[in-house]
Amino acid sequence: MRALILAGGAGTRLRPITHTRAKQLVPVANKPILFYGIEAMVDAGITEIGVIVGDTRDEVMEALGDGAQFGAAITYIPQDEPLGLAHCVLIAKDFLADDDFVMYLGDNLLEQDLAAFTAAFERERAGATPPDAQILLKQVPDPHRFGIATLDSDGNVVQLIEKPADPPSDLALVGVYLFNALIHDAVAAIEPSPRGELEITDAIQWLVDQGRRVRCELLTGWWIDTGKLTPLLEANRLLLERIDSQIDGDVDETSVIDGRVHIAAGARIINSTIRGPVSIGPDAEIRDAFIGPFSAVGARCSVVSSEVEHSVIMDDSTISDIPRLEDSLIGSHAEVNRTRRKPRSLQLMVGDHCQIDVE
Ligand code: G1P
Repeated sequence: MRALILAGGAGTRLRPITHTRAKQLVPVANKPILFYGIEAMVDAGITEIGVIVGDTRDEVMEALGDGAQFGAAITYIPQDEPLGLAHCVLIAKDFLADDDFVMYLGDNLLEQDLAAFTAAFERERAGATPPDAQILLKQVPDPHRFGIATLDSDGNVVQLIEKPADPPSDLALVGVYLFNALIHDAVAAIEPSPRGELEITDAIQWLVDQGRRVRCELLTGWWIDTGKLTPLLEANRLLLERIDSQIDGDVDETSVIDGRVHIAAGARIINSTIRGPVSIGPDAEIRDAFIGPFSAVGARCSVVSSEVEHSVIMDDSTISDIPRLEDSLIGSHAEVNRTRRKPRSLQLMVGDHCQIDVE
């Protein structure tokens, strides 16, 4: 079995951060989102991985390399224009050959591992009605934002629609799919949708229309499509819930470490309180500060005389003299300073290399 990971896409809903970085490389709990997907593949025993790259290809290729750091072999497949998820399958045909494959949207994060998902497909393939595709579904409160599936009373998939204005169900297609080689016929047969994309949802509907079996599983654990600020901070929170305490950096005697906190090597905590779950990256400096729950502070950041909570601060940024920064996403090499002494709480989304002086 192979994997196809989609890491093209512009990430318009995370601007300004995505003006300068691939949305799949934004870190949550101090690790790029895309790494979690690749690690999940390798954990499921899939090491031949194709990665679809778009405008941000240089950055993605630099971060993933040849895949050796994950124990995988990565093949890059360039997509010149974002023409849809089914288009990604079309251009990956040579790489995928006749193999079964897992398709994984690089900005999705799942609690559950993929080994059970792939094992179920293998098992059913030997059964009386072998599936040609397998999808994961999750009940959502806002179904118009997703591909939506309708099931019959026996739980079979009967209809799939991409972002319906009037959703027939609340079962969203999670961004992880499993296909056999028949999907190549499907993606070649469908037409672009009203948004001008070849939708994978339509390709799966084509399989259903051909009388093929599309197996579905209802997801029990959490799933996050991280493309916007709120879900991204939620993913950061859920992943920080899982960290173990580990202090590799220096903590001086006037500082207090409370709860599960990961402090990477080279980080210095001076006269500060860190209340977990929190991750502090390598060589960061936290001085006269409070870092509250669900915060991830990147490598070489400096947080001085400030309070930070429920926020992601990317590498090489400085937060100085800010009474309270919460629910925020701060790009890398950014500076947030306060120049006058009025207490206030800030909720910011700050791009890379920005400087914000708060009066
Ligand atoms: C895509 C798919 C949609 C699916 C979603 C999951 O939407 O088209 O069917 O439910 O991913 O994240 P997009 O992120 O392209 O809007």
